[in-house]
Amino acid sequence: MNWSSNIKKIFFIFLILFFSSCFQEKKHLTFMVGGAPNEVDYWEKLIKEFYRKTHIKVELIRQPTDTDQRRQGLIIPLRAHKSAPDVFLMDVVWVAQFAGSGWLLPLDAFIKKDKINLGNFFSSIINQVDRTEQGLVALPVYNDCGLLYYRKDLLDKYGLSVPGTWSELVTNGLRVQTELRKENPKFYAFVWQGAQYEGLVCTFLEFATSFGGGLLDSVGNITIDRNENINALKFMYDLIHTYKISPPNTYTEMKEEEVRQFFESGNALFERNWPYAWGMHNRLSSPVKDKVGVSQLPKYPGKRRASALGGWHIAISKYSDCPDKAWELVKFIISYNTEKALALDLGWNPGRSDLYDDEELKKGIAHITVLKRAFENSVARPTLPYYTGISEILQRHLNGVIAGREKPEQALHDAQAEVELVVKNYSE
Ligand code: GLC
Repeated sequence: MNWSSNIKKIFFIFLILFFSSCFQEKKHLTFMVGGAPNEVDYWEKLIKEFYRKTHIKVELIRQPTDTDQRRQGLIIPLRAHKSAPDVFLMDVVWVAQFAGSGWLLPLDAFIKKDKINLGNFFSSIINQVDRTEQGLVALPVYNDCGLLYYRKDLLDKYGLSVPGTWSELVTNGLRVQTELRKENPKFYAFVWQGAQYEGLVCTFLEFATSFGGGLLDSVGNITIDRNENINALKFMYDLIHTYKISPPNTYTEMKEEEVRQFFESGNALFERNWPYAWGMHNRLSSPVKDKVGVSQLPKYPGKRRASALGGWHIAISKYSDCPDKAWELVKFIISYNTEKALALDLGWNPGRSDLYDDEELKKGIAHITVLKRAFENSVARPTLPYYTGISEILQRHLNGVIAGREKPEQALHDAQAEVELVVKNYSE
């Protein structure tokens, strides 16, 4: 009797130990990624392909489109040293902060072991972004740069050309808007990202640089309150309040997806967006399919064209409990074939430089030269560990101006003073 109850006890203890060990052990790799819904669906497809090749199971943790929300979603588990997510994509502007916080696993040993040729990537980006004091901590999956999308059917109908300057964009825009408003009161000539979030810093950087200004001076100091920047910000205000060719919800709601959907609904002539919008505009169910053209963003006469340099880089968490498997996933994603598929199917600008000579890609993406030129004319946001602090100040004042709450000159003076304080606090 005693003997059999002991056996039962041992059996139960064994069962408890067995199940608790099952629950403790992480069963698969976790990969955190966001973006437009079609992009996240595409990742689902890719991880299935990865499983077929490697038998490594990956669980996708879906994130929203907004870059600021994605950052928050990642910072929480990383600060808590959680092992999930093992792998994630980072906006190009977070890499310095994540590396500085010690959250990223250096990839140098893996790269050496698998003889990955870094010469197949853009060295300027690798050196500026991914190579940090902690080692090489990330690799580029795609490079973003701001583009101008336009309705070629409408420009043709009114005999207008693609605007090369901002004033042409206003003139051509007003012409078409006046005509179309007769039937459609919701029509606006130009939609762009103006909500209070990171995307607004990107659009401002483009306007500012193409007006002859920018965020950094020739020696790399942050100079926000110069005249060209004030004029550019005034122009952003005018688009909404003076020319009235951009809708009032530009400053309350317009992020990438809102802008894309507005343009796709047929209610806009011009749109500022990233390369991903091309694939969406031309999908089978898109109302503007085959009616869209793409070019570089306009500029101020005599000044340079400018596209904000964006992009997403892949990294492994320092707290991953399966770094070898995680590396297999990274290797698969940054491979020639995967980045090529991402470019062909989603319209992304490959992070690998060797893909720009790919014949199939040249044929498959008719506007590849536009992408290449925009990339050549791209301007980076400062790569600083405290960039988020600077961005938050800019977002608040820029949005204040385009919403009519602040005056351009005062707003940029205030932003300059606040940013200097952040820089000072950080350098102390
Ligand atoms: C895109 C860019 C990213 C940028 C973001 C702003 O995702 O790739 O770099 O910060 O848009 O919304």
